[in-house]
Amino acid sequence: MFGALRSPRNIVFGNGHRFALGRYVAKLGARALVVTDARMAGDANFAAMVATIRSAGVAVRVYDGVAAELPAECIEAGVEAGRDAATDVIVGIGGGSCIDAAKVIALLLTHGGAMDDYYGELRIPGPILPVVAVPTTAGTGSEVTPVAVVADPGRAVKVGIASPYLIPETAICDPELTLSCPPGLTAASGADALVHAIEAFTNVRRTDTAAMTLEHVFVGKNALTDQHALGAITSIGRSLVAAVRTGDDLAARSDVMMGSMLAGLAFGSAGTSVCHAVQYPVGALSHTAHGLGVALMLPYALQFNRRYVAEEIATVGQLMGFANPNDQTDAAVDRAIDGIAAVIAEIGIPTSLEEIGIESKNLPWIAEQALGAHRLIKNNPRPVDRAGMDQLVAAAFSGERCSISFPVQPAAKAS
Ligand SMILES: NC(=O)c1ccc[n+]([C@@H]2O[C@H](COP(=O)([O-])OP(=O)(O)OC[C@H]3O[C@@H](n4cnc5c(N)ncnc54)[C@H](O)[C@@H]3O)[C@@H](O)[C@H]2O)c1
Repeated sequence: MFGALRSPRNIVFGNGHRFALGRYVAKLGARALVVTDARMAGDANFAAMVATIRSAGVAVRVYDGVAAELPAECIEAGVEAGRDAATDVIVGIGGGSCIDAAKVIALLLTHGGAMDDYYGELRIPGPILPVVAVPTTAGTGSEVTPVAVVADPGRAVKVGIASPYLIPETAICDPELTLSCPPGLTAASGADALVHAIEAFTNVRRTDTAAMTLEHVFVGKNALTDQHALGAITSIGRSLVAAVRTGDDLAARSDVMMGSMLAGLAFGSAGTSVCHAVQYPVGALSHTAHGLGVALMLPYALQFNRRYVAEEIATVGQLMGFANPNDQTDAAVDRAIDGIAAVIAEIGIPTSLEEIGIESKNLPWIAEQALGAHRLIKNNPRPVDRAGMDQLVAAAFSGERCSISFPVQPAAKAS
């Protein structure tokens, strides 16, 4: 049995725990840069959290210039603000964009250089300024993950920086902060978390070597990530629809936030795969939310992978209430994929690439870009070649899941 998990030093979860923020920050530094966006900067909860930092004796500079998609300029301005304030601790408050911005600002303040010096895996040379992350959406899991996703003006699709040094020191997850998320945001971010958990659980299981956790950030499905992925699927499966439908259902909000954090722990070591690889070019063309794109792809990816991870898909179906315990038949896999597709449709996620404005002429470019995301493609349980990727995106474009075919002889699974 092999297990690998990386996580923050502290994970604090619960209603009202945002008020512990100041004391956690004070343990790490004397001058904090708080990174957020303009919407959050005007929120009463934000003012209250900043007040806790000040009353813990820490000087605060607020940088509220985080913009959607994290363009380089908004990161540069944040680095400038941090340098100017001689910052020694970074606090990210907001959705995944604000937390990713906080991580990258901490990186550049510590090691200098430009964002593209660090693209890919394991290119950060050492520890970065400590980051405290306070998510206000329940989705990305960025508060616990070793990755930040940014937009580069020189590249067509968003790009990741992945290193254990990017993991925040402390994550404070307070479900009350998600009560203000409108249904569309709750759906897209919650579905993002569901995809993180399911991809982590259905990813390839690699043959482990003593060096692999030192040479890779994402090491594939393993015994420790499975525990967190299964917890995430259970929580999100139980409560995502309720959180979208009834935004003030705090119990459902808590379940989805717990699920998104657990999913972050799972995929932060196991990695994600084809849903994410396809979303990057699709998001660049359609300007749709990351969570919407990955969730749209999920039923197609499961159909594509079903011969390789039938047992895992049946287990997901059981946890989400679509299949009977211990039923691992082909029919159970069908029920699982149909059930997941139904939940995704029920929360308002579009069901085909055509529906979000992708044109058939874009499909070859999408397939090419997705295949180029090696760090993601290598995690998929079914090996993906160009013909397979073309088939996957064509099915997602037309909405015809059953058009996906399988190689005659699926490869044996690594144990
Ligand atoms: N680092 C990771 O591990 C990781 C994982 C997945 C996705 N991501 C990245 O995270 C980003 C998406 O993050 P996201 O889905 O959290 O959305 P987001 O951070 O982009 O925020 C989307 C919108 O929701 C608003 N918002 C945030 N919290 C709110 C609240 N409580 N109430 C009302 N509005 C609120 C924001 O102001 C913004 O306008 C993408 O850039 C994606 O690439 C990162």
